[in-house]
Amino acid sequence: MARKTKSIYAGPQDEKIVISLRDVSKTYSKEAPAVSHANLEVREGEFVFVTGETGSGKSTLMKMLIRELKPSSGEVYVLGYDLNRIRHGKIPQFRRNIGVVFQDFRLLWDRNVFDNVAFAQHIIQVPGRKDIQKNVLFALDLVGLNDKYRRRTNELSGGEQQRVAIARAIVNKPYLLIADEPTGNLDADTAWDVMQCFDRINREFGTTILIVTHDRGIVSRMGRRVIEMKKGEIISDTGSDADFSDGYAEENYQDVDADYNDVYAGGDPYRYDEEDDGY
Ligand SMILES: Nc1ncnc2c1ncn2[C@@H]1O[C@H](COP(=O)(O)OP(=O)(O)O)[C@@H](O)[C@H]1O
Ligand SMILES: [Mg+2]
Repeated sequence: MARKTKSIYAGPQDEKIVISLRDVSKTYSKEAPAVSHANLEVREGEFVFVTGETGSGKSTLMKMLIRELKPSSGEVYVLGYDLNRIRHGKIPQFRRNIGVVFQDFRLLWDRNVFDNVAFAQHIIQVPGRKDIQKNVLFALDLVGLNDKYRRRTNELSGGEQQRVAIARAIVNKPYLLIADEPTGNLDADTAWDVMQCFDRINREFGTTILIVTHDRGIVSRMGRRVIEMKKGEIISDTGSDADFSDGYAEENYQDVDADYNDVYAGGDPYRYDEEDDGY
């Protein structure tokens, strides 16, 4: 089913803008603004870190991107939606295109791995049981957990739990994946493994990824675009990362018409090409 989103951006199709913030501020009650005059553009296929110390406004920024919060002033566009004008009833449809990963995992602890990931498919009402199985196992394969699909999530290690959360966030094939401190509760080695999952998803499918983290070690090791916040302001931005120009994104979207509208109708960046393997 084709979605009705129209790009508000002029310019070349291979430079689709996924996120655009224009002079965005957010003030909670009477305090100093949590986010102040932020400007930001993120193009399709980019991998972006947002860093900054506690209280610098990272989570507030992220919540405005998924329309959990509205800005006090300024404009927020995500995937072609104008989030100041989006009607309330359209918000679920908008959010369907975004996968979100939280620091505290937010899993269903009394269910197994498969059910946790399948849950996201039920929310968007994927009808066929076979399709759900295929999609869930594909997502679990991507994060390296397909051999553990029957395990209860409360029996897994922290790193495995976070990978279940990532599988759940990608199973609906979002264009944009947003994570707020996804490695905040993990030790350094496990955090690195989880980061490699994000890296792989970005490189293989061209999924645009924005990760909030204050882990400077990981950020510098990854070598991707970094936006730094301080006291609500974006104080530095390394700019688009080199990976954007190496063709991964275009390659994987090539049989998708160069327009968001047709992606669900015409192609699927997370295609699962193998035969149904009988789960
Ligand atoms: N719901 C809220 N109500 C009032 N103040 C808030 C709320 N959420 C965050 N803040 C304040 O906004 C500022 C930015 O917070 P936040 O966006 O959570 O920063 P970060 O994620 O970088 O730690 C902080 O001063 C914080 O205390
Ligand atoms: Mg935060």
